Amino acid sequence: MSSVISDQRVLSGMRPTGSLHLGHYHGVLKNWVELQHEFECFFFVADWHALTTHYEDPRVIEESVWDMVIDWLAAGVNPGAVTLFIQSRVPEHAELHLLLSMMTPLGWLERVPSYKDQQEQLKEKDLATYGFLGYPLLQSADILMYRAGRVPVGADQVAHVELTREVARRFNHMYGKEPGFEQLVDQAIGKMGKKNAKLYRNLLRKFQEQGDDEALQTAHALVSAQQNIALVDKDRLHGFIEGSGKVILPEPQALLTAASKMPGLDGRKMSKSYFNTIKMREAPDDVNSKIRTMPTDPARARRTDPGDPEKCPVWQWHLVYTDAGVHDWIQEGCKSAGIGCVDCKKPLIEAVQAELEPIRQRASQYIADPDLVKSIIADGNEKARDAARQTLEEVRESMGLAYR
Ligand code: TRP
Ligand code: SF4
Repeated sequence: MSSVISDQRVLSGMRPTGSLHLGHYHGVLKNWVELQHEFECFFFVADWHALTTHYEDPRVIEESVWDMVIDWLAAGVNPGAVTLFIQSRVPEHAELHLLLSMMTPLGWLERVPSYKDQQEQLKEKDLATYGFLGYPLLQSADILMYRAGRVPVGADQVAHVELTREVARRFNHMYGKEPGFEQLVDQAIGKMGKKNAKLYRNLLRKFQEQGDDEALQTAHALVSAQQNIALVDKDRLHGFIEGSGKVILPEPQALLTAASKMPGLDGRKMSKSYFNTIKMREAPDDVNSKIRTMPTDPARARRTDPGDPEKCPVWQWHLVYTDAGVHDWIQEGCKSAGIGCVDCKKPLIEAVQAELEPIRQRASQYIADPDLVKSIIADGNEKARDAARQTLEEVRESMGLAYR
């Protein structure tokens, strides 16, 4: 756990497999933009993850990497506040994945639900590979590498965070034990200084005697805030609070991203394979024509036929984009045939355009300056590597690989 307050760290990744659309924007990116104000965020391009399913035709990956980063920036992800990087440019992820693979029971990976599900769903691809089986563990390495306590993911990824917790627990149990632990803890407490040492022991007692969870959190924070103690000693002090050995890899929590309320143009889930998307950088004319041709309640074949918003994807979009006044106007006008579908779509088109305009503008600045995008990522890669190296050093040491 070292100097990182793991609870304050967020990590998430996205696969570069095509351009991003409004589903990504509403489902993921708006959430990232909010998190960046509150936490120390690491967001990365999961190009190795994409290779696990696109290894036969990796071209789409290389075509999508930079555009995806531009889409993130265009959405308002602030490169001054968060660390943006590319997974394969931080090769430490591969080493941690390898080391974790030594102690991860095969059954844990075979039991991850996405393993069989995806093999079923993507029948056209041969996913009976070593890499595909191991990819949830690669994800564990991504998370544990940064000791991230919070991992924003969709429901389909929660099992991967759960696996990560189990791997971390097993790792700490196996490698966090050391001879003379209690004595080493005593020495570490001594290094905190009299006042903090006393505070630490009091908080610990409070937690042990009264199960006071706040005392536990405060004790962790106290340890994290120490300036003059070595990382290993901090790990011992964190572990001692938990009643375990050293906490080398803290267990993360999934931050479940609410399912996107943003359906596709046809009312099904927005997905490029359904051809029902509006891209984040869709040209204004195409936005107009795509919304104008959206299907509506089939009962409204003629302008004079009344309809029901509940049976209409346009209404679902209004729920995302327009306010209660517009909603009342639609409910009334649709059911009484007082308004036509063309009228109904007008404020929607305006709202979508108003949302996309600043996104397009920000994107165009970055498109015009590819060097800027590359330097943002180069900086992020370096920052990520610094953090990654610290973790790996401790991992190697605790696994007995520190000989020179
Ligand atoms: N596996 C995720 C996906 O397919 C992407 C991902 C990779 C990720 N590593 C991660 C997400 C770590 C969160 C944390 O969407
Ligand atoms: Fe859909 Fe609006 Fe037409 Fe009603 S009026 S069917 S809600 S587009």
